[in-house]
Amino acid sequence: MKKVALLTSGGDSPGMNACIRAVVRTGNYHGIEIIGVRQGYNGLINGWFSKLGNQDVSNIIQRGGTILQTARCDEFKTSDGRKRAFNNLKNQAIEALIVIGGDGSYTGAKIFEQEFGVKCIGIPGTIDNDLYGTDNTIGYDTALNTVVEAVDKLRDTASSHHRLFIVEVMGRDAGFIALRSGIGVGAEAILVPETPTYIDHLINKLETDFRQDKSSAIVIVAEGDEFGGANQVAQAVKERFDKFDIRVSILGHIQRGGSPSAYDRVLASQLGFEAVNALMNGRSGVAVGLVDKKIVYTSFENAIKHHQELNQNLLKMAEILSL
Ligand code: F6P
Repeated sequence: MKKVALLTSGGDSPGMNACIRAVVRTGNYHGIEIIGVRQGYNGLINGWFSKLGNQDVSNIIQRGGTILQTARCDEFKTSDGRKRAFNNLKNQAIEALIVIGGDGSYTGAKIFEQEFGVKCIGIPGTIDNDLYGTDNTIGYDTALNTVVEAVDKLRDTASSHHRLFIVEVMGRDAGFIALRSGIGVGAEAILVPETPTYIDHLINKLETDFRQDKSSAIVIVAEGDEFGGANQVAQAVKERFDKFDIRVSILGHIQRGGSPSAYDRVLASQLGFEAVNALMNGRSGVAVGLVDKKIVYTSFENAIKHHQELNQNLLKMAEILSL
């Protein structure tokens, strides 16, 4: 293996840069040229390539975002787009591709490999932690810490004013951020897409807390909750129980930025390092992950088909601890 392309795709996540650094330095150590592709699959289609040497990735391990930039690319979903991408790789004699991203990015890599025989390795990079085949995705830990820090601040003002805050966190399809941040901040309730939201149950709980003279309440709601986001929840609560002074806070993209946590830097470094090793050992069509502290490889097919399960016991625990 002489030349490998590397791209980041989908939503950026803190730790992607640490992973880019690991891929580049591991590749260069083994005499493999690493070609950085700008703006995800868009760059593959348009030939936005540049060779990455060890010095190009110095001083980035601590930086959020991705120096390669990223995109959600519709053109790569078309066979014309993929053909153009393949021709660009062929012209540059690039033999393999490493993709850091979520399951949409894995799907693209899987189809590309099937169509053109380009060896592909996936690395899980998303703050949502909704990927099968790894305990943690790159960026999840940092996002959790960002949410916890923000909600601690909201708690200060909430308890000063005896208020209820409904806080919306990211997670279009999954409640991992909501669940763990909710436990971390001692939320009075956590609403996630994986379980039905019973609004009456929530209101009873908040009413009981109110009567017991709790000085504040925090409800964490995942943006993908089937009941709706924070605004809808606030509206429903307001209609049935008007004692609380309610405020809504939507944390938004602040959750995706910032310097990666120590955990994410180490995870990203390990996964980047192992992705290159995997290619050298002849693997392809797999995503690399860390499960129970061990490196595992999951076929793209399995990684896409399965979902990381939310630990329902933790939800139950959070309910008891919030009494
Ligand atoms: O996939 C990660 C994620 O952060 C989701 O939780 C969120 O819904 C989405 O990205 C937002 O994407 P965009 O930046 O395209 O608005």
